[in-house]
Amino acid sequence: MTRQKIIIDTDPGQDDAVAILLALASPELDVLGITVVAGNVPLNWTLKNALKVCELAGKPDTRVYAGASRPMLRPLVTAEHVHGNTGLNGPELPEPTLQAQPQHAVDFLIDEIQRQPAGSVTLCTLGALTNIALALQRAPEIAPRIQQIVMMGGGFSEGGNITPAAEFNIYVDPHAAHIVFSSGIPLVVMPLDVTHQVLTTRKRLDAIAALGTPVAKATVEMLEFFERFDEEKYGSDGGPLHDPCVIAYLLQPGLFKGRHCNVAIEIHSELTMGMTVVDWWGVTDRQNNATVMREVDADGFFSLLTARLETL
Ligand code: BDR
Ligand code: CA
Repeated sequence: MTRQKIIIDTDPGQDDAVAILLALASPELDVLGITVVAGNVPLNWTLKNALKVCELAGKPDTRVYAGASRPMLRPLVTAEHVHGNTGLNGPELPEPTLQAQPQHAVDFLIDEIQRQPAGSVTLCTLGALTNIALALQRAPEIAPRIQQIVMMGGGFSEGGNITPAAEFNIYVDPHAAHIVFSSGIPLVVMPLDVTHQVLTTRKRLDAIAALGTPVAKATVEMLEFFERFDEEKYGSDGGPLHDPCVIAYLLQPGLFKGRHCNVAIEIHSELTMGMTVVDWWGVTDRQNNATVMREVDADGFFSLLTARLETL
């Protein structure tokens, strides 16, 4: 089996944690490294959380790199109100013994993309795009070597979740998002329109709990903590499992349906800062730069996730 080489850029976050578990559980994927960025909580927490999740998965060989502690131009905005003060509230996970690599995440991204065969590496971005934009700024020659970026970010008809117009990951570093969306790298986007359909209902969490493993227990504890915010906000049964959609797409792209179109990032207006302006109907002459997903087979997604978690 040829394994798809990926680098996961992330700000864990319970849903990031489940995405990492899904990737580490999947033999089709070769996780070259995990690069960490500030976002849901400050970098010291997101880094520690990434290390904890690799240990929980029983994959202590995973290389984890600390990246940007703040966005390119704007002050850091965090989301403790969603994820808790540690970013990973819910389970009691031991302090990690695994250490971060000494290299900075941005240097790792540049070196690794240059080291691997051109067109062989997919970037999976689950947080603000700061690390990726800094790498592209410093070494623009890596852009054509990247196979694709599959990202969780943005919202279209669903609107925003951190402001009425903006989704959190894009809002945290809109200038970085602007660089990435202008880079010419093939982009696949999982916006809120998709992720809000992937809900952690009781039945789905019970199916994970029934696996009876430490990973399953910790996953359910994370998601029970995480879902309370969105359940209260939207009145939904369960919370949206945003970031694992990125990994699920690599494993089973047929779970998702979308359209290739233009996406531009708002970086001027304070009112709509970080909005993903999606030209779904092709009403501009702006060049298509992203495949934006809008539909998902949520039951298929949870079958895949549950089956893979069972292997950890
Ligand atoms: C995104 O923001 C973060 O809180 C989640 O981890 C996800 O990446 C959803 O808007
Ligand atoms: Ca995230």
